[in-house]
Amino acid sequence: MKQIAVVTGASSGLGREFVKLLCREPDLDEIWLIARSKGKLEAMASRSGGRLKPVPLDLSEQKSMDAFAEMLNAQDVRVRYLVNSAGYGKFGAYSDLSAEQSRNMIDLNISGTVGMCLACIPHMKKGGRILNIASLASVTPLPYLNVYAATKAFVRSYSRALNLELREKGICVTAVCPGWMDTGFIANAQTGAKHSPTVFAAMTKPDGVAAKALRDAKAGKDLSVYGFFPKLTYFGAKLLPQKLIMQSWLQMQAGSRRR
Ligand SMILES: NC(=O)c1ccc[n+]([C@@H]2O[C@H](COP(=O)([O-])OP(=O)(O)OC[C@H]3O[C@@H](n4cnc5c(N)ncnc54)[C@H](OP(=O)(O)O)[C@@H]3O)[C@@H](O)[C@H]2O)c1
Repeated sequence: MKQIAVVTGASSGLGREFVKLLCREPDLDEIWLIARSKGKLEAMASRSGGRLKPVPLDLSEQKSMDAFAEMLNAQDVRVRYLVNSAGYGKFGAYSDLSAEQSRNMIDLNISGTVGMCLACIPHMKKGGRILNIASLASVTPLPYLNVYAATKAFVRSYSRALNLELREKGICVTAVCPGWMDTGFIANAQTGAKHSPTVFAAMTKPDGVAAKALRDAKAGKDLSVYGFFPKLTYFGAKLLPQKLIMQSWLQMQAGSRRR
């Protein structure tokens, strides 16, 4: 039986950092790379000596989820790690985004994450680890990033509840809540946006976030927050009224918001 890791959003940013870290795990036979960009995944795999397996899929589509579940069921594999990093956000007012854009964000960030968990859990055993990438944006409603922040609140809540349900199987689910990271995320969120912040406080590199998240997952933690500012924000959001946090987010963005 092959020991595998599955990483979504593997073609760039945080997902790619997880792939680099998982390549150092000696017990893994294969790492399955999921994203839409077939070419990028194949380029990564061609440099890996056969351990990386490209699985190009659009995880916002139900048919892709079904195809992935079938692929897993057809093979004799044990999933040791599932990292759900595929996700995106769009800056803008509620009326700037089309219904299709809002729905697609929900389909990928929420349904994609849940669908991957449901497909992989039957192939996991004691010691298995699921890392779901939420966001610091999950701790409070965020005007002008409203759908994205709400999807990430879902991911954090779902992950922590699932962690308790899977405890008796010895599988740990970690909700990873990064602050701003220097990846393709921001440029993608700004593309076509009528409103966008231009100041991104305490931006970090994704490698530190991934390394801490993997350490936390191995230690059996249900939450991973990397860096001083994100930790302060995360725990501050537990103490302060949400109205106050939303007001300070609006004020922080007001000077920099692009129209
Ligand atoms: N960067 C930040 O500031 C930040 C902060 C907090 C949380 N996050 C979260 O961190 C995670 C990783 O984002 P990132 O920062 O690494 O951004 P990124 O560099 O834009 O990476 C996003 C990844 O998701 C994949 N993806 C997008 N749509 C997809 C789809 N429909 N099906 C399958 N894969 C898809 C992309 O590959 P393809 O385009 O090839 O499909 C890419 O590999 C996301 O969940 C994001 O919400 C980011």
